[in-house]
Amino acid sequence: MGGVDALWITPWYPSPMADGGYDVADYCDIHPDFGDLEQATALLDDAHHHGMRVPLDLVANHTSDHHPWFRRAASDPSAPERDWYWTRRGRGAYGELPPNNWKSVFGGSAWSKLDSAVKPPRTEWYLHLFTPAQPDLNWDNPGVAEQFDHILRFWFDRGVDGLRIDVAHGLTKHPDLPDLAAPHNATPSRSPDEVSGAYVVNHPHWDRDDVHRIFRRWREIADSYASSKQGARIFVAEAWRTRKGGLPRYLRADELHTAFNFDFLKCPWDADLLQATIETQIRSLATVGATPTWVLSSHDLIRPVTRFGSKGSLADLMLNDEPDIDLEVGCRRARAAALLMLALPGSAFIYQGEELGLPEVFDIAPEARQDPISSGSGVKQRGRDGCRVPLPWSGELPALGFSNATPWLPQPAWWAQYSVDQQESDPSSMLTLYRRAIHWRRRHLTIPLTPELDWLDSAPGVLAFRRGDEFQCVVNASPVTVDLPSGSQLVMASGELPTKGIPPDTTVWLHACGPHGLR
Ligand code: NOJ
Repeated sequence: MGGVDALWITPWYPSPMADGGYDVADYCDIHPDFGDLEQATALLDDAHHHGMRVPLDLVANHTSDHHPWFRRAASDPSAPERDWYWTRRGRGAYGELPPNNWKSVFGGSAWSKLDSAVKPPRTEWYLHLFTPAQPDLNWDNPGVAEQFDHILRFWFDRGVDGLRIDVAHGLTKHPDLPDLAAPHNATPSRSPDEVSGAYVVNHPHWDRDDVHRIFRRWREIADSYASSKQGARIFVAEAWRTRKGGLPRYLRADELHTAFNFDFLKCPWDADLLQATIETQIRSLATVGATPTWVLSSHDLIRPVTRFGSKGSLADLMLNDEPDIDLEVGCRRARAAALLMLALPGSAFIYQGEELGLPEVFDIAPEARQDPISSGSGVKQRGRDGCRVPLPWSGELPALGFSNATPWLPQPAWWAQYSVDQQESDPSSMLTLYRRAIHWRRRHLTIPLTPELDWLDSAPGVLAFRRGDEFQCVVNASPVTVDLPSGSQLVMASGELPTKGIPPDTTVWLHACGPHGLR
């Protein structure tokens, strides 16, 4: 897709793939399915040649249980690596109970017995906030920090432009590993939310104050590349479970540079909620001088066309039953949401396939599913495979043009109609909309990079704002057609405007006419 500034690559490291590569067995190599280090360098060079930056994914909360560090930790109680992880003796007369009541994000206890467990009553357990194949690292041990210094430099020296920090809000733990108090020991929610209630601060494992020392250390490393040809490197935080209004703390001047805006991603199609979410992001990030960001989809959530077409909540959609979805409505709203996002000041993150308007794939046979959320819940939860199915490039070629090999998840035959080659020549396709909008945004909306946005009075259910004197965006999220503002020219619309009004679920971009209008 033309207009891409940066390419974020999810984990490409050697991994047993217990969690889509977020279980890393070697941080300084490439999984053979994806190539090798030489090819990685060629890709970086090529991207740079085309003016694109390439950030990678840094998984520092946990390793794979196949990582040599964990292998040594598990097999030898006196190995230094033993303290690189959280291992503890079990509770109960025989050590048969987990050391505390923490739950894994993916369900069940956050503790598993170590392979080499000394027999009861000295049974040893290890902590994993995700699957048992992802043991959590102990960031209180200086050895861990030193290893990651090396990993950062390894990739920065090879030309990587930045890192997306996986589970940034979870890297440190309370050293005493205390039990979670109610209500937080209840079954964890599948859609991560804010840390609240008793743990507004000092949660034993989310959003802890001591996590920021790690980011300061990494920032020094990233800044030390300032005088290199590529310049300083950048960090993007994945921080879901922060205290209310807590995200800016991750983006202070000596910490991470930017963060995904998950509030926007999870926001329902509702003008008031959207406006409040946008306003909060812009205002709160301005307190630390950070750039606002916008995200409509990711590899962890239901695709927007499906989400916006559903009458149920996001949590309902994650359940593995027959959802009630109107894809036509979903597609209209996803197009309108795209033009809203691309009109906003700041950075927009686009997840592959969003620009094709791909719906979530629900009909993946249970035996073909890969996501541990699905298997861990006895297939009660549908998991995240449906938004990870490899892209359709061609309606004709095997594997829809994605690969000569069999893709890791099955692609439905009905995806042919969404393929890039079908959409490229269609002026009304989602791909054409994204391309035109990005092209226009780059030309008119990103210079200067100011976060200025002025809300305009609008009818109920309608969002309207101006950027500068010349650009206006109107989003009709109401069920009725509203008037097109007079005195301006249409730049583009997310759908057809048959009546000269703005129909429901449609966004328009306008610019002022006259001698000073945009060209
Ligand atoms: C967040 C990633 O986006 C998700 O895909 C992964 O399962 C967890 N972190 C654990 O690494």
